[in-house]
Amino acid sequence: PLVEGWIDPTFHEYQGFWFAPKILQGALSFQKHFQAIDTDIILVTNPKSGTTWLKALTFALINRNKYPNIHKNHPLLTSNPHVLVPFMEINLYYETDIVPELNSLSPPRIFSTHNPYVLLPKSLKESNCKVVYLCRDPKDTFVSLWHFSNKLREQSRGTLPLEEAFESFCRGTTSYGPFWDHVLGYWKESLERPEKVMFLKYEEMKMKPNFVLKEIAKFLGCPFSEEEESNGVVDDILHLCSFEKLSNLEINKNGKISSEIENKNFFRLGKVGDWKNLLTTKMVEQLNIVVEEKFGKHGLSF
Ligand code: A3P
Repeated sequence: PLVEGWIDPTFHEYQGFWFAPKILQGALSFQKHFQAIDTDIILVTNPKSGTTWLKALTFALINRNKYPNIHKNHPLLTSNPHVLVPFMEINLYYETDIVPELNSLSPPRIFSTHNPYVLLPKSLKESNCKVVYLCRDPKDTFVSLWHFSNKLREQSRGTLPLEEAFESFCRGTTSYGPFWDHVLGYWKESLERPEKVMFLKYEEMKMKPNFVLKEIAKFLGCPFSEEEESNGVVDDILHLCSFEKLSNLEINKNGKISSEIENKNFFRLGKVGDWKNLLTTKMVEQLNIVVEEKFGKHGLSF
């Protein structure tokens, strides 16, 4: 089946999820060819759930000994997080017949993907590598996705009407959607294999960033020492990766990660609850019902 895409002209359905055609090629190539190793770290999100933030935090966390002088010479000061932590299906496996050489990368390798759990490579599921999944309140994810898509759509297609986008989100026809099935795939896995999949929420990271970063460090097997904590290493990483800091760097104000995408598109507002400024009461009611229906019985709420 085919439906109209938000950014690309069409979406294709594959195994219950929707993809832009080129992304699906990449997703399948990643699934077929990627060989995971036990030290790999895979960051997974639904689009617009805080991927950029998670990439920055994980990169800074894992490389904290390599770049002790975090205020100078840190790669995050001069490179966008999406360059430091590439997407599998968008950057590395974009063309079906090109298999990237990833064996020479020094461990731990950090990669990211928006692939739903069912489409992850077998070797990734079976190895001892770690998966960090970050999700976000669907109301804010929808709002963020709507703004982002409008920036990237061909001008001739005009702004995506909000009502239309909203109905499409509720039906599940967004890139890598349905949103709910994506979240539930990883939620269930995190309950079954908590040592393999860590499940995070953007809202919790916003509320207690210090706590969550320390939890991520423990999960990835590189907990902060007492000495590091008292030396302010945790706070330094959080400060470097904060929305305010990253969004004001020259590279993120004026740089581009590809011919179409400007770095500034990844930094809009960075807040919880912006949906209140855009969604009507009726939309909120409708979305709350869907959320309860999909997540309620699984003990997941936002
Ligand atoms: P908003 O559009 O609500 O502002 P992704 O990184 O998955 O594409 O998600 C983008 C969303 O994360 C945007 O949300 C963006 O502003 C927000 N974001 C980007 N960097 C962030 C950071 N360092 N801290 C918190 N939020 C951030």
